[in-house]
Amino acid sequence: MTTPHIRILATGGTIAGSAGSAITRGYRAGQVAIADMLAGAKTLGIAARLDGVDIAQIGSQDIGWAEWDILHSHIAEACADPDVDGVIVTHGTDTAEETAFLLDLTLAAGKPVVLVGAMRPADAVGSDGLRNFANAVRVASDPGAHGRGVMLVMGDSILAASDARKWATANVDAFKGYPRGPLGLVTPTTLDWFAPPARIRSPARFAWPECLPRVEIVYAAADVESDIVDALISLGAKGLVLAGMGQGNAPKPLLSALSRVVQAGVPVVRASRVDEGSVDRNVEVDDDSVGFVASRSYNPQKSRILLQLMLASGITDPARMQSEFDRR
Ligand code: SIN
Repeated sequence: MTTPHIRILATGGTIAGSAGSAITRGYRAGQVAIADMLAGAKTLGIAARLDGVDIAQIGSQDIGWAEWDILHSHIAEACADPDVDGVIVTHGTDTAEETAFLLDLTLAAGKPVVLVGAMRPADAVGSDGLRNFANAVRVASDPGAHGRGVMLVMGDSILAASDARKWATANVDAFKGYPRGPLGLVTPTTLDWFAPPARIRSPARFAWPECLPRVEIVYAAADVESDIVDALISLGAKGLVLAGMGQGNAPKPLLSALSRVVQAGVPVVRASRVDEGSVDRNVEVDDDSVGFVASRSYNPQKSRILLQLMLASGITDPARMQSEFDRR
């Protein structure tokens, strides 16, 4: 077997973070260049040929269209290169689920594309970065990783981009899968897939857009004001996502404001501010008569990405939008 060649695209995050001390709590994300991270990885004896490109050195709270556009073209180029077997994106954990989902929706499910992050900076005692990285290399090198879409490796879990959710602010075990658990379990030298790949040769669901239209998230809370909705529309929002209570609900004035927006032709997706569970149609809110879209298993931040891609692709019909949210 030839040594796998993995392209590493670095964006920053805690995996490239530095505290300047092994025990200091405070740190800065995105300090370590990919060449230095790869020098550290070399000492692990990983059986893969790794080459790295610094796309950005930022905390992932600052990632956006400029970085995504560059990242997407580097991934497309690596996937088209017969000499490259897989791609790893090092990324901050705060928005890893959004970047992973955006890439998953816009790339064909061919060669493995694996996001990886860490919860402790590179120089912290008990740092999880190199371990997670070695796990990601194991996944990206595996022929059985083809046709699974974009994945996120954190700890020893492999999560599908569509399922991955960050659920803890500081625990090393910060991610879980919803509605599906992990696709498999990995260590630097072992890999167990729980099912065969489901998306072999599937084309990209959406073309890479020229830009992403403005979509805002409206957060529901008890006694919240509803005039924020009109303010967002007048600021140029082309779609709204409700981070609603429970099953995507909101106080009556807020629901009324959102339904007026739908009547004016701006799509509204009802998601939930609750960490887990599905938002289904017509449970407490009459979606059929108002024209809302239910987010199903997608949280507000992932719903926003999907809505942006649909709008960028010219999809505005609520029934068509609902079918995209229903899809797994
Ligand atoms: C970030 O998302 O860049 C900071 C937090 C992290 O990577 O865990």
